[in-house]
Amino acid sequence: MDVISVIRTKRDRGELSPEQIDWVIDAYTRGVVADEQMSALAMAILLNGMNRTEIARWTAAMIASGERMNFDSLARPTADKHSTGGVGDKITLPLAPLVAACGAAVPQLSGRGLGHTGGTLDKLESIPGWRALLSNEEMLHVLDTTGAVICAAGDGLAPADKKLYALRDVTGTVEAIPLIASSIMSKKIAEGTGSLVLDVKVGTGAFMKNIEDARELARTMVGLGTDSGVKTVALLTDMSTPLGLTAGNALEVRESVEVLAGGGPADVVELTIALAKEMLDAAGIKDADPAKALADGSAMDHWRRMIAAQGGDPDATLPVAREQHVVTAPESGVLTRLDAYGVGVAAWRLGAGRARKEDPVQAGAGVELHAKPGDTVTAGQPLMTLHTDTPEKFDYALASLAGTYDVAPAGTAFSATPIVLDRIA
Ligand code: URA
Repeated sequence: MDVISVIRTKRDRGELSPEQIDWVIDAYTRGVVADEQMSALAMAILLNGMNRTEIARWTAAMIASGERMNFDSLARPTADKHSTGGVGDKITLPLAPLVAACGAAVPQLSGRGLGHTGGTLDKLESIPGWRALLSNEEMLHVLDTTGAVICAAGDGLAPADKKLYALRDVTGTVEAIPLIASSIMSKKIAEGTGSLVLDVKVGTGAFMKNIEDARELARTMVGLGTDSGVKTVALLTDMSTPLGLTAGNALEVRESVEVLAGGGPADVVELTIALAKEMLDAAGIKDADPAKALADGSAMDHWRRMIAAQGGDPDATLPVAREQHVVTAPESGVLTRLDAYGVGVAAWRLGAGRARKEDPVQAGAGVELHAKPGDTVTAGQPLMTLHTDTPEKFDYALASLAGTYDVAPAGTAFSATPIVLDRIA
């Protein structure tokens, strides 16, 4: 087998054979195939696609590059959720303890933020003492004793994907549906969850900008999961405007705690409950009521235990950025648009996100929204507050907000986009 013939097959729109796929993934993981050769293959896949048989084999080869975890020793059924990433998407934080409170075991192997979308681990690391890195034994222990664990995926899980994802990130090949689907599903299947709910984001703040692409990604991932014996369901959800009222690490933890306390923004509560119901259904738990578990404090109890089990202090004061800048409404009327991408880039530029994997993030940085689309605003009232420890970044962040919101005359009709756009099972 040689890599040039594999690249030529896909360049010329051919179908990769199972042997070619197994060989190229293994050889790339071992360093026998060079980054520039894998870049050429990834670009050929982005341009010419892969069929369902190729995607399934590619996913299986990435799973086989590392270890597979197993939760069979747990008394409860396992349910996991994966979001394709968005702005203000803190849903994992209230969702994992909520679903645990309803009787499932929730293993959430999560990532860090890259670019304008935030990462769950960065958010939780703003809680003093909280540790993302757990050994497999520690992870199982936290899951078994608290019902939920949110931690970093170990290096042993789908190492081919780790290497390939980093390469795609710097070669303009992230946005290929076969590569996104196989990347996400190889990690989820290797993780060993019994059921999986996918939150496929659609809109300006998401990878998938239109609903047709999102449907194709969702169908591909649901097919991969189902064929591997994982009960898999996808919700397509709106990411044209930020979720909730915050984008930024500690800001989003604070909002998540509000949701766990029975309050919080309506869109975050609605999506948390919708995903919880899907997870419980997929896990075969029929008689639980997630709304009740938020209202009666049992989800909050599980959150506190989960955070403490990973060294965090659930009562600690969260970090606050040193400097604030308020953006005001330019005129009175109805806020008809607030673009997720612009807000995400602003939060990132303020220090909430990173440009390279190794960059640090600021815990307190981000954007706090004071109005959402559909709200009536008065000229001069605060629309959003920018938070950062590095005030020299304000102008840079403000530049990304130019043209990201519209205020229409009072009385202008406004119809809200639903949060859940479609369901694919
Ligand atoms: N998240 C992943 O894990 N992989 C991708 O390719 C895109 C998003």
